[in-house]
Amino acid sequence: MITLALSKGRIFDETAPLLARAGITPLESPETSRKLIIGTSHPGVRIVVVRASDVPTYVQYGAAELGVAGKDVLMEHGGGGLYQPLDLGIAKCRLCVAVPAGFDYASAVRRGARLRVATKYVATAREHFASKGVHVDVIKLYGSMELAPLAGLADAIVDLVSSGGTLRANNLLEVEEIASISSRLIVNQAALKLKREEVMPVIDRLEAAVQR
Ligand code: PRP
Repeated sequence: MITLALSKGRIFDETAPLLARAGITPLESPETSRKLIIGTSHPGVRIVVVRASDVPTYVQYGAAELGVAGKDVLMEHGGGGLYQPLDLGIAKCRLCVAVPAGFDYASAVRRGARLRVATKYVATAREHFASKGVHVDVIKLYGSMELAPLAGLADAIVDLVSSGGTLRANNLLEVEEIASISSRLIVNQAALKLKREEVMPVIDRLEAAVQR
């Protein structure tokens, strides 16, 4: 049996059609079912429903052989113990630095000012600003990053931007793109060796589904 770790919401919604094309249809929707382990039309594949940021952990420790995770989550996790054989091209967005419309980010950076940055991507943000030589204090948040500058908690945020609607609605401007994001198939490295006959056909079918 192969276990595939998926998160609810956009990743599940956009992975489901790819799975269907690969001959793997979930028997229930995690949006309506409270079940956390869901069977599929494929007798050798089941789905576990976990938080997006927990997907790499389940796969890294081999509790799931396969998973679907955003590049944002993988950058923050570090990717140890994981292969990333396939960009699924879904859940596309970008990871950005944004500031209030009135804040002169470029001149603050030129002055060498120390910036307070609110984000749930603490490791990624630290690495990004360190590589640019910008001094930052990173404040960890778990959601609603856009509120932090408005409430006086931070000068800037690092967050995902898709349509840009949330930034516009809160009078924030994107000032830097850190990475373009999409979801990746991830594979436990040991499982790829030890359960190759079970794992490879699923990867191959998903690859064919992406290319269609
Ligand atoms: C994401 C992200 C932004 C928003 C961006 O939040 O954190 O808040 O979407 O999308 P937009 O550019 O199309 O407005 P999400 O709703 O996924 O919830 P989260 O805060 O739990 O990440």
